[in-house]
Amino acid sequence: MRNERGSFGSRLGIVLATAGSAVGLGNVWRFPYMAGENGGAAFILIYLACILMLGIPGMLCEFVVGRHAQSNAARAYDRLSRNHSWKLVGYLGILTSTIILGFYAVVAGWCLQYLYASFSGHITGDAEAVKAYFVAFSSHPLKPVLWGVGFIMLTHLVVVRGVRGGIERASKLLMPVLLLLLVVIVVASCMLPGAIEGVRFLLMPDFSKLTSKVWLEALGQAFFSLSLGTACLCTYASYFSKATNLMQAAAQIALLDTLIAILAGLMIFPAAASVGVSADAGPSLIFITLPNVFQQAFSAMPVAGYVIGVMFYALLVFAALTSTISMHEIGTAFFSEEFRLTRDKAVWIITGVASVICAFCALSVGANTDLMLMGHSLMDFCDHLTADFMLPLGSMLTCLFVGWYVPRQVVRSEFTNNDTIGGALFSLFLFFVRYVCPVCIALIFFHQLGVI
Ligand code: PHE
Repeated sequence: MRNERGSFGSRLGIVLATAGSAVGLGNVWRFPYMAGENGGAAFILIYLACILMLGIPGMLCEFVVGRHAQSNAARAYDRLSRNHSWKLVGYLGILTSTIILGFYAVVAGWCLQYLYASFSGHITGDAEAVKAYFVAFSSHPLKPVLWGVGFIMLTHLVVVRGVRGGIERASKLLMPVLLLLLVVIVVASCMLPGAIEGVRFLLMPDFSKLTSKVWLEALGQAFFSLSLGTACLCTYASYFSKATNLMQAAAQIALLDTLIAILAGLMIFPAAASVGVSADAGPSLIFITLPNVFQQAFSAMPVAGYVIGVMFYALLVFAALTSTISMHEIGTAFFSEEFRLTRDKAVWIITGVASVICAFCALSVGANTDLMLMGHSLMDFCDHLTADFMLPLGSMLTCLFVGWYVPRQVVRSEFTNNDTIGGALFSLFLFFVRYVCPVCIALIFFHQLGVI
């Protein structure tokens, strides 16, 4: 039996679900530690430039392809051109998002476990004890695998309910709660004594830290955070209505995503500065540094520390869930449409593949450090492979596709909703998509590969 194609039910649903995909651990976990490692405000400036000049046009390209084709990613690229090789870009997106789902679920599983542990008051003691807790948990041969796969199952339960009843409903509930939790923690963090140092770190650029690596990382982070180059936006756009103003949606989503990343910085750095903790701890920042920070910062009010800690991990879980839903949906839509499977069966395929990747990645960070590829743990390898290579590649090819290969009339009618809106910006958009985006992405990308 073939499933009817789903669609989002309202304008708010479209923005919240797509923003839900964009807002995730990328904002709350990856962005703060990247900014912390790469010079704070200087990194943020480059990041903003990447979002504005490359992210928004790239996002619009995926929207154009997805909404015009109204189908899963692989078929979408096929439908818009006579050359069938473009289908490969769709396959690349599906592969990328499934790999991301695998390693992302590891961190999401940690967050879920930390939510449970902070709720039951297990994460206590001094800095050494908190660190030992993380090391013991992440190197356990079974626990991180179970929590990670558990997170994929949670995602499964939403995705199986379909686009409107599952994805849209979950996003409409989770996104406002997420924003509320974030604002409460930011206020609490910025009110701590000495917090201003953290705010300064976030807002005053240190240009001495700017190397070519920082450019690539900012670009990768911008793409990762907007869910670009994974065909995710293309798949979600296939559920948009023909009346959706694509430009407005792209601008709203990019703004919300950036705002939440910066708020996440304002949640973490002031609290860290207040207790004199360095902000460049890398990926373990939110698992080792922060529990400490919460305890020390609120030592006079342990109940507040407890509540903030629980709220923080709940926030991470919600943010991660709306993103894993979107990663899962890309492959699910593909399998159900291309292989004429019911949604129930298609969902299981992605759950199965992602769970295997998740299990190996989870083990590679602790229990089995032999699981290495090219000098990195499997987990780091998947992270860098996708964010630094596959996403920019997917996005560059999509820009080239929309800029040069899709009939101009099709792009124009999608961009302007049949010449009813934004016609004046169309030439600017096309200029960016044809020249600026591919050239900038290629420069950064090939520089990283050592070719130029
Ligand atoms: N944008 C998400 C985040 O910031 C991650 C993501 C990447 C989601 C790719 C979907 C596809 O966490």
